[in-house]
Amino acid sequence: MSTRSATEFDIKDINLAADGKRRIEWAEREMPVLRLIREKFATDKPLKGIRLLACAHVTTETANLVRTLQAGGAESVLIASNPLSTQDDVAASLVADWGVPVYAIKGESTETYNRHVRTALDTHPHIIIDDGSDVVATLLKERGEQKNEIIGTTEETTTGIVRLQAMEQAGVLTFPSIAVNDAQTKHFFDNRYGTGQSTIDGVIRATNILLAGRSVVVVGYGWCGKGVAMRARGLGANVIVTEVNAIKAIEAVMDGFRVMPMSEACAVGDLFITVTGNRHVIDGAHFEKMKDGAIVCNSGHFDLELNLVALREMSEPALTLRPFVEEFKLRGSGRRVIVLGEGRLINLAAAEGHPASVMDMSFANQALSAEYLVKMKGELKPGVHTLPQEVDTEIAGLKLKALGISIDTLTSEQIEYLSSWEMGT
Ligand SMILES: NC(=O)c1ccc[n+]([C@@H]2O[C@H](COP(=O)([O-])OP(=O)(O)OC[C@H]3O[C@@H](n4cnc5c(N)ncnc54)[C@H](O)[C@@H]3O)[C@@H](O)[C@H]2O)c1
Repeated sequence: MSTRSATEFDIKDINLAADGKRRIEWAEREMPVLRLIREKFATDKPLKGIRLLACAHVTTETANLVRTLQAGGAESVLIASNPLSTQDDVAASLVADWGVPVYAIKGESTETYNRHVRTALDTHPHIIIDDGSDVVATLLKERGEQKNEIIGTTEETTTGIVRLQAMEQAGVLTFPSIAVNDAQTKHFFDNRYGTGQSTIDGVIRATNILLAGRSVVVVGYGWCGKGVAMRARGLGANVIVTEVNAIKAIEAVMDGFRVMPMSEACAVGDLFITVTGNRHVIDGAHFEKMKDGAIVCNSGHFDLELNLVALREMSEPALTLRPFVEEFKLRGSGRRVIVLGEGRLINLAAAEGHPASVMDMSFANQALSAEYLVKMKGELKPGVHTLPQEVDTEIAGLKLKALGISIDTLTSEQIEYLSSWEMGT
């Protein structure tokens, strides 16, 4: 172990650190915006004296976020936001090379996952970076006495924000939370292009199936669903969309996809991908009607989009065919349903999550949100907030600059035109 090694951690194997370090540095090459923020943080130290708890997928990109927070002066602890998404070599490198206490092991049980949440809360954080709101929910349910120590929290994903809004409605959210997902430089890119590519990547790595010519049912046509549908079509699949929202459904129709209810799609699809953030969107009755060999997976935040409890009850004991691929034979019909990645985020279970280049913008938002919370300490009301629009625009500008792309600026004549109402035809 190096002299920088953290002394307290719970990871798979510290000897994996060298591989992890190489991969973290590889990802960094694709994260120019975060690197610029890190350089600025190293000089300004905006997070000096801040204890920070980060709950995120423990990937190479997250490692670069944690390095940035550390450069800003924060004392950080990192835990996994999903039991299956941890990259054990990354966890090892963060402990050994950057001295970050990490509590995350790929495949950890739900019990261990929850224990890690509590161990991290024992550090009495001032700021929580959350992904899915499990940490904030645990704090509110079990650690009332720590609420006043919190300056604020940030939330990475759609599902976490839905939970935060429910907490706000219930009057229990006593600190400000920044909805990072709601920044345009987050969901326009991460949810659409990141989830689009990495979900298909996860399906292919798990199964090695050809998508061309298959009927792929995308469940939910939100930001993630649009990306998944777009990329599945790009590989030659016949894409069907299911939705509950009329506007999203008509958008899918105009984008050229077939739209139908799940009660029909379930009998047609070869591959089903759920991205709704909602529970049991594929239920027992749907499994019953599926074709023999139909494949189902999920890329929404929690592992409840597929009703696997019902599927288990309807089937003989599952057979593991290859990593992340389980076969359920339905009693009665004998038809087989294949479940990928235990119904957990397939892009993180069977692949490596989003490419670094897209996480660059998401995590730029995270780093700047932490800085914003400290800067605004005591001034933001309890509740869910978004980052100011200027920050979003600044991140987009930095990304364009890093890509070597310049854009036009408004002329004074155009500024005047856009701000006046007198001029018409
Ligand atoms: N895999 C990843 O890496 C990744 C990345 C970002 C977000 N997410 C998660 O993916 C999920 C979706 O995120 P989003 O940003 O696309 O959300 P979104 O709100 O933009 O879209 C969700 C869509 O699902 C639809 N929906 C809800 N219930 C449905 C049902 N029963 N049948 C069909 N459609 C239904 C909604 O109408 C909505 O259009 C969330 O859980 C989010 O946290 C995952």
